[in-house]
Amino acid sequence: MSGTQIRKVAVLGAGLMGHGIAQVCAQTAGYEVSLLDVKQELVDRGVAMIKDSLSKFVSKGTIDKPKADEVMRRIRPTTDLETALEGAQLVIEAASENPKLKVDLYHKVSELMSPKSILASNTSSISITLLASATKNPENVVGMHFFNPPQLMPLIEIIRGAKTSDATVDSIKAAAMQMGKETVLCKKDSPGFIVNRVLMPALNEAAFLVSEGVADPEDIDKAITLGLGWPMGPLKLLDYVGIDTALSISDVMMQGFDDNKYRASPNLREMVRAGLLGRKSGKGFYEWPSPSTTKAKASP
Ligand SMILES: NC(=O)c1ccc[n+]([C@@H]2O[C@H](COP(=O)([O-])OP(=O)(O)OC[C@H]3O[C@@H](n4cnc5c(N)ncnc54)[C@H](O)[C@@H]3O)[C@@H](O)[C@H]2O)c1
Repeated sequence: MSGTQIRKVAVLGAGLMGHGIAQVCAQTAGYEVSLLDVKQELVDRGVAMIKDSLSKFVSKGTIDKPKADEVMRRIRPTTDLETALEGAQLVIEAASENPKLKVDLYHKVSELMSPKSILASNTSSISITLLASATKNPENVVGMHFFNPPQLMPLIEIIRGAKTSDATVDSIKAAAMQMGKETVLCKKDSPGFIVNRVLMPALNEAAFLVSEGVADPEDIDKAITLGLGWPMGPLKLLDYVGIDTALSISDVMMQGFDDNKYRASPNLREMVRAGLLGRKSGKGFYEWPSPSTTKAKASP
């Protein structure tokens, strides 16, 4: 069976990942895009992040100004779910990493979207089978896991839920190729899939080192970048991922495997309570002068 021909994509959630995914869809794949969030100010923030990213591409000479303007014209921001879904052959959900929130959203989306359209989740850890169970067409639900920032990172993990059809997987492979991405297939719907199964315990362990007072964040990051050759230290990476998102991923893995080795470091939970969410809130393990600034400064 041949895959779905995609012309329009609806991206649900205009945060760190959603804005970047919308940009890749419009810029590289040439799709028409609708970008949804729950409040106008959040949609506006997502659009501002896309403009900021495009202007960086223009100043580096990667694209020219007319192309950047064309990309912006292809992206239609909205706060109305029905408007966002209208005419979309592919829906990419990039809403907050919260199982209940996502299940509620999948239920609503399933009522409104075309039964032939594909519903792909950018979740980092939540079961695709669980999300699919809230829809009328679980064969059309699949994991499509981008990496941060989606504009630059070349990989998409494709995750099969228990009922995902071959045609859906084929369509997502084709869409990923159109977006200029490489893919890997996660054959089984297992918490954290491939990359986060390996990465999250390492990031969590770095948070434990801070929590136990073993070393300062700068030294932990220096040790891992210089000692292991990582391009970015684990604590800086946690700030980029978002402490709230990282905590949710750890919690999903802990519950999914029912194994204490995935228990989140207590300082992650404390930081979320205190609103120290990393780069997006201005402070996490480091201070971030403005949400769009890329230079990190060690926090006192
Ligand atoms: N942050 C990362 O590095 C990263 C990497 C890969 C995948 N992910 C996954 O991507 C998803 C989004 O993460 P993020 O980092 O962009 O989070 P984020 O907090 O930056 O953005 C999430 C956005 O979803 C919006 N939202 C919440 N409920 C919604 C709804 N019902 N409809 C539409 N929008 C809604 C929120 O208002 C928010 O703007 C999560 O599932 C996360 O696990 C994150």
